[in-house]
Amino acid sequence: MKKRIVIITGANSGIGKEAALRFAKAGDHVIMACRNMEFSRKVQTGIIAAANNDQVDLLELDVSSFASIRCFCDTFSSWYERLDILIHNAAYFSHGERYRQSPDGIELTFATNVFGPYLMTSLLLDQLKKSADPRILHAGSNIIKHFFDPKQSFDLDLLQGREDSNKSFSVYQMYCQSKMALTLLTFKMAEAFADDGIKVNALQINGAKMSKRTIQKVKPWWRPIARVQNIFFRPPSYMAENYFQICTADNYKHVTGKLFNDKLEIMQPSPREYPGFFKQLKQLLGSSTYPACENTNIREELWQLCTKLIESHLHTSIDDQKNWSDQ
Ligand SMILES: NC(=O)c1ccc[n+]([C@@H]2O[C@H](COP(=O)([O-])OP(=O)(O)OC[C@H]3O[C@@H](n4cnc5c(N)ncnc54)[C@H](OP(=O)(O)O)[C@@H]3O)[C@@H](O)[C@H]2O)c1
Repeated sequence: MKKRIVIITGANSGIGKEAALRFAKAGDHVIMACRNMEFSRKVQTGIIAAANNDQVDLLELDVSSFASIRCFCDTFSSWYERLDILIHNAAYFSHGERYRQSPDGIELTFATNVFGPYLMTSLLLDQLKKSADPRILHAGSNIIKHFFDPKQSFDLDLLQGREDSNKSFSVYQMYCQSKMALTLLTFKMAEAFADDGIKVNALQINGAKMSKRTIQKVKPWWRPIARVQNIFFRPPSYMAENYFQICTADNYKHVTGKLFNDKLEIMQPSPREYPGFFKQLKQLLGSSTYPACENTNIREELWQLCTKLIESHLHTSIDDQKNWSDQ
C-alpha cells in the first residue's frame, strides 16, 4: 500500500500533535503545518523518534494569513506529488480576548477557523484530486449546541473592517459562530467536491484535555476553569484516534458531508425550534443531533462570502506572499 500523504494543521500540540503521532505510527507521510517553527521543530523530533518514522515534515503555516496559506500551498504542491488527507485542526479561541483582526483585516476567529481552511482547501484541490481516496476533515466543536436556540444567529457584519464600537464583542460567541460556519461549509463542500471523489466530513469535539501550554495562552481568569474541565476531558489521543479512523477506515471511504460525534456515530440534523424542556435537555446532554440552521439561507451566504473574500484578497496578497516568503 502506498504511504498516505497527510497534512495536519496545528500539529504541534493537543489533538493535532497526537494525530500526527498516530498517522506517523501507521507509517504515513505526515506534514505538520504549524506557525511556531522553533517549538514545532522539537515536537517534530519527538514524533519522529516515538513513531520511528522519519517522514514527518514540518512546513510553516499561519492559517489566519492568506499570504502564508498561499506560500504553504505553493511549497506543498511543488514538493509533494499529491495529497490524500487534509485535516483542518488548528483553531483560534482565546476566552476574554478583545476584537482582533488577521493580517488581511478579517476578524481573527473567522480568519483562522473558517476562511483560512476554506482558502487552503481551495488551493490544494488539484493535489487532492490526484489521490485515489482523498479525505478532508474539519475539527468541529460541541459549542455549536448554542445554535439549538433559534435566537442564535450569525453576525457576519463583524467579520470585516473595524470593530463596530456600538456592538459588544465576545470571542466566545465568535468561536461558536465560526464552528457552526465550518460545519455548514463541510456540508456545502461535500456537495461541491463530490464529482471529484473528495470526501469532506467534520468531527464534533466535546472536549479534550488541554496542555499546560494551551492553558497558559488563555486569559488568567479562565485558567482555573480550564484546569477543572481537564479533570473530566479525555486525553487528546482519543480524538486523534477518531481523526485517524474517519480519514483512513474503509467503512468511511464513501461517507461525505457528515458530522460525527465522539463515538463516531453520524449525527442527525435537528430543526431549530423552541423545544419543550425535555427535548432541550436531551439536545444539550446528547450528541446524536446538531442544529441544522437550514431554516435560513446561511449556508449559501457563507459560501458566497468565502468565495468573495478569497477572490478579493487573492489579488492583493501576491505582494504579501512575496514578503512572507522573504522573511
Ligand atoms: N480541546 C477541547 O476541549 C476542544 C473542544 C472542542 C473543539 N476543539 C477543537 O479541536 C481542535 C484542536 O484543539 P486542541 O484542544 O488540540 O487545541 P491546542 O492544543 O490549543 O492546539 C491548537 C493548535 O492550533 C494552532 N494554531 C492556532 N492558530 C493558528 C494559526 N493561525 N496558524 C497555525 N496554527 C494555529 C496552535 O498553534 P500555536 O502553537 O502556534 O498556537 C496549536 O497547534 C481545534 O480546532 C479546537 O477548536 C477542542
